[in-house]
Amino acid sequence: MKVLVTGGLGYIGSHTTTVLLQNGFDVVIVDNLSNSKVDVLDSIESICKIRPKFFEFDVQDKEKLDALFEEEKPEAVIHFAGFKAVGESCQKPLMYYENNLNSTFAILEMMQKHKFCRNLVFSSSATVYGVPDSVPLTESSPIKDATNPYGQTKIMIEKIIQDFAKVEDINVAILRYFNPIGAHPTGLLGEDPNGLPNNLFPYLNKVAVGALPKLNVFGDDYNTPDGTGVRDYIHVMDLAKGHVLALNKLKENCGLFVCNLGTGKGTSVLGLLKAYEEANNIEIPYSIAPRRDGDIDENYAGTEKAKNELGFVCDYSIVDACKDGYRFQIYSQIVSHIKNQK
Ligand code: NAD
Ligand code: UFG
Repeated sequence: MKVLVTGGLGYIGSHTTTVLLQNGFDVVIVDNLSNSKVDVLDSIESICKIRPKFFEFDVQDKEKLDALFEEEKPEAVIHFAGFKAVGESCQKPLMYYENNLNSTFAILEMMQKHKFCRNLVFSSSATVYGVPDSVPLTESSPIKDATNPYGQTKIMIEKIIQDFAKVEDINVAILRYFNPIGAHPTGLLGEDPNGLPNNLFPYLNKVAVGALPKLNVFGDDYNTPDGTGVRDYIHVMDLAKGHVLALNKLKENCGLFVCNLGTGKGTSVLGLLKAYEEANNIEIPYSIAPRRDGDIDENYAGTEKAKNELGFVCDYSIVDACKDGYRFQIYSQIVSHIKNQK
């Protein structure tokens, strides 16, 4: 099956591409490099010994997208492309609504026009559940109003896709990711955001290699066992595998399918920090800081649906994620050191 992967050079898209290629899928990537680097293609090629075809343009550009559909005739799209930083979305709401909604409209229009493409996987998020009434969060937990524009785009897009799927004969998997962490076990791919990381794991990675002095733990007075926020951290390679399983599900002509991708286990900020220290035999300096606006006590995924309907179970542990993340961070430091010397 030929799959168009939008945002395929980003964090989750690049890892998913390696798993797709290694499972015999033919992959075409479109990415505008707004949050990724073209070197990621080399890493994908080193890992898979295949270089996927890459188109550099904005998915919102319908003319270019149409030409790509005509030329490549993908049978499926995995739509990762979009902006994802919660804080930035509060500062630049229009930029977030525009990119995330328009890129999805463009993909849906192409699927309406090109009937050879009947399968769509969309990257949604546990953020659609908002402040949970109870955990674990299952697919039938209520969708709440989001506390930020980024989350609001995911809720809106889910609804748009659901309405579209009612009138168009397509198969769609809406995957609600919990918190992806870790890196490719080779150390060649991972998450290395520009500037100060927003998320816990890339921040930990930077503290671990001395690029940042200490971790700020946002709040220790949450209603959780150790007072710090609890999340469901899933290794990015497990998340990547979930996309292959979702494509297999779509091949069965399943119509609309909504599914969580998480581990079903919550880990606190201090729990993750300790796991990172033990996995890598290092010490992470930290201090307790005030709560971050909009954060919740805890969330973790109900995993029954993913297990029963996709056959999804996680292969990697948090310790694996901590080792892989640290390995990637060291690798990328060495690469940037060499580049700076040239
Ligand atoms: P990322 O920023 O690493 O990857 C997104 C990629 O899309 C980047 O390479 C970027 O250059 C590209 N892109 C953005 N807008 C584009 C456009 N208009 N045209 C072409 N390319 C464009 O993010 P990620 O962590 O890999 O996330 C992928 C998807 O998963 C996003 O939709 C995100 O909202 C969703 N998601 C991520 C998380 C997370 O914690 N990482 C959690 C839940 C959902
Ligand atoms: N945290 C810290 N210090 C930091 C960063 C985070 O203590 O420097 C804490 C947060 O307060 C929270 C936990 O670590 O308790 C996780 O925070 P992240 O920012 O890593 O992740 P979030 O759960 O806030 O959100 C992430 C993505 C969202 C996605 C959501 C899905 O950013 O886009 O996971 O559950 F929707």
